Amino acid sequence: MTRTVYVNGAYLPETEATISIFDRGFLMADAVYEVTSVLDGKLIDFEGHAVRLQRSLDELEMAAPCTQEELLEIHRKLVELNDIDEGLVYLQVTRGSDGDRDFVFPSADTKPSLVLFTQNKPGLADNPAAKKGAKIISIEDIRWGRRDIKTVQLLYPSMGKMMAKKAGCDDAWMVEDGYVTEGTSNNAYFVKDGVIVTRPLSNDILHGITRKAVLRMAAEAQLKIEERLFTIEEAQAADEAFTTSASAFVMPVVEIDGVALGDGTPGPIASRLREIYLDESRKAAV
Ligand code: PDD
Repeated sequence: MTRTVYVNGAYLPETEATISIFDRGFLMADAVYEVTSVLDGKLIDFEGHAVRLQRSLDELEMAAPCTQEELLEIHRKLVELNDIDEGLVYLQVTRGSDGDRDFVFPSADTKPSLVLFTQNKPGLADNPAAKKGAKIISIEDIRWGRRDIKTVQLLYPSMGKMMAKKAGCDDAWMVEDGYVTEGTSNNAYFVKDGVIVTRPLSNDILHGITRKAVLRMAAEAQLKIEERLFTIEEAQAADEAFTTSASAFVMPVVEIDGVALGDGTPGPIASRLREIYLDESRKAAV
């Protein structure tokens, strides 16, 4: 089945979708994005992603390509056209193109580009990787200072993932001034003596939509949460650790820089939070 994608108002086969070579997303990474997961053919936390998208656009003084209602309709139509039961919807908004390359932003009447496509991922919820847990390496965080804006500047996170792969691991946690910021494409947590520890929100990390939901559910389950800076050494000495993201939900971490956590298998709190998150999110999906 050929994938149907959305580009600037049109639903097209992926082979027919085009964007200008002058588009600022292509030339300058002048673009923001969202990834929304799909379970049972429905969108998980759509509202949270739409609100964060608007915040990213506002921070970069970029025009919104359409209303939130229209975005929801496009998401739903793509899920339906591509027959997605479990998977992801990728959305990208760029500042568009005024037909040349210039560091100065184009005039305000330049239309932003809007692109969406689906990724079919059967077994996303029942991912065997979550039963094994992830092995993590730590790397220096050399990204820019506005990581709270979800831009498409993903070269360093992508390099981080490759460094992890070359080391025989699954992912990398980034460290700045001695403290963990976040994973290459997820937020980072450890659990010690029943307390969940994660870095507080600031411009240093992406304000994860899954993070917000998981912390709310953890609080409802009477789990203790501490939002504070933490080091790799603290995480290595933890009982368990995990990451959260729209693409992997709650993913247990079993090893950091070669040090096994606990007994080296996914911890009970991470596993429980994954279950709760999947249950609750399915119920609230749109
Ligand atoms: N990444 N931190 C970073 C750097 C991320 O790229 C992501 C998400 C998160 C988690 O955010 P959320 O819970 O809203 O997905 C944290 C997406 C999934 C991606 O780039 O594919």
